[in-house]
Amino acid sequence: MCGIVGYIGQNQATDILLYGLEKLEYRGYDSAGIALMNDENIHLFKVKGRIEALRERINHRIHATTGIGHTRWATHGAPSGVNAHPHQSPSGRYTLVHNGVIENYQALKRDYLIETVSDTDTEIVVQLVEKLNDTYADTVKAFREAMRLLKGSYAIAMIDSEDPDTLYVAKNKSPLLIGLGDGFNVVASDAMATLQETDQYVEIADGEIVLVQRDRIDIQTLDGTPVQRAPYTAEIDLSDIEKGTYSHFMLKEIDEQPIVMRNIMNAYQNDHDELSLDPAIRSAMTACDRIYIIACGTSYHAGLVGKSLLEKLAHIPVEVHVASEFSYNMPLLSEKPLFIFISQSGETADSRAVLVKVKEMGHHALTITNVPGSTLSREADHTLHLHAGPEIAVASTKAYTAQIAVLAILAVDTANEKGIELDFNPMQELAIVANAMEVLTDQKPTFERLVNAYLPTSRNAFFIGRSADYYVSLEAALKLKEISYIQAEGFAGGELKHGTIALIEDGTPVIALATQKDVNGAIRGNVQEVAARGANTMVISMKGLDEADDAFVLPEVHELLTPLVSVVPMQLIAYYAALYRGCDVDKPRNLAKSVTVE
Ligand code: M6R
Repeated sequence: MCGIVGYIGQNQATDILLYGLEKLEYRGYDSAGIALMNDENIHLFKVKGRIEALRERINHRIHATTGIGHTRWATHGAPSGVNAHPHQSPSGRYTLVHNGVIENYQALKRDYLIETVSDTDTEIVVQLVEKLNDTYADTVKAFREAMRLLKGSYAIAMIDSEDPDTLYVAKNKSPLLIGLGDGFNVVASDAMATLQETDQYVEIADGEIVLVQRDRIDIQTLDGTPVQRAPYTAEIDLSDIEKGTYSHFMLKEIDEQPIVMRNIMNAYQNDHDELSLDPAIRSAMTACDRIYIIACGTSYHAGLVGKSLLEKLAHIPVEVHVASEFSYNMPLLSEKPLFIFISQSGETADSRAVLVKVKEMGHHALTITNVPGSTLSREADHTLHLHAGPEIAVASTKAYTAQIAVLAILAVDTANEKGIELDFNPMQELAIVANAMEVLTDQKPTFERLVNAYLPTSRNAFFIGRSADYYVSLEAALKLKEISYIQAEGFAGGELKHGTIALIEDGTPVIALATQKDVNGAIRGNVQEVAARGANTMVISMKGLDEADDAFVLPEVHELLTPLVSVVPMQLIAYYAALYRGCDVDKPRNLAKSVTVE
């Protein structure tokens, strides 16, 4: 979703802002803009489309040491130059960028008699500041009052042409950080945008404003009370957010999965090779009578695998819910529920809406995320970190496998706490998984060939499986459709004949997963059913399961952990299908990495 970057210092702001916006591209956007301030002049550049187009539009001769930049993912108003941020007040004095949704913008527009040139909710905010300043003749007061009037989510950075020494910043429910430098300060939606400048960051809490100057920051609450907060060091390596020799982040992130498995093993094991989890998480897990997993997209698919692991290993009943549905259609809860939120970004608005609700109801919540300081992490009672390193490609890969690995560790740890005897050593099994993943990522040409044989010009594709393989089929279909735009569906093998088999015709690609002993015969029966109706079938199976005619045989891993390896060919198939079709693999159309609107 939208990204914000701001700079105030002594250096040329243009390059710093453009670099920052490029680092925020992964969040997804459809237009971009920057405002540069020199003396009392504000120079505005906005385009529909990519940052490259913005770079070309900018007059690079303008010398400015203060500026704000924005990437927009349209919510209110179509993607266009007019709707792109920054937006300006009618006199041109105030210029502002915003990430989030102002829920009461229509009421404010009516009450303050605001006429806008754009269709955005954001323009109301900058006009409101100007109207309030007409009353108070004090920008800080006007800014604070405007923030008090807003309902909804916002991260905001604003400049005032009459005060070139201050960036006005505010936050509520949308991510925003202040980066501290020597003789300069920066503002960013994500530390990745400004890591080249500094690794020292200060968090802003919801309902705070910050006056950012080149050599100081002044944090205040909305009633003007000063706030002191110590900075922290962002532990992201610049190389983690560069592609290096890879042509796409997605491929790099697929290849990183074995390392991520090993990172997780190190993180959740003490020097005596025992599982080491926060004792408070252990208590929450053993005290609950039912777990409710809440997530979206790929994280939801990881949650489905997590359900099997938690039920089979820790003997706790688990329900898995899509966050956006749970919010408005809450099931009858058990007496002692525990909520587990799974989110790569930790910022997903649909999941956060559920978290806010269940916290209000007094329930306990654990977040499993790749971003420890994220909103879902801060607002839950406990956090388990994925240790996957930054995931930049919009299509989630290494976060999915990390989520399953962490859920497996959590399930075993809970079983240990409950005294359940297990014939399953998670660290040993994850080590085997890491090796198997390496074997798979070394065979990229094979998957490229399979794509050419099965999916060259297809309009659609079906993935089928049973039990754990069904869950991976859902993820395989999501991966393929989001980056290659092939219409793909994941189905439980047995469910096909109840309707969907009507879609099978000559040449329809059907990819079946067969990694589970109990249902091996049944899924192969389903493959025969669709083959008999003309489907172009491919079976990807686990070693030892009648593999003679299968297109690909996976290295053997523990049956509970097969999703960790069977998903890798699916990720690579999606990748090569998207490449073959000339799609923008890392930044697929219409999608955002971090979905911060409901
Ligand atoms: O950051 P989250 O894990 O909460 O994001 C949830 C989904 O938006 C995300 O998994 C999405 O489905 C991915 N693009 C899938 O690749």
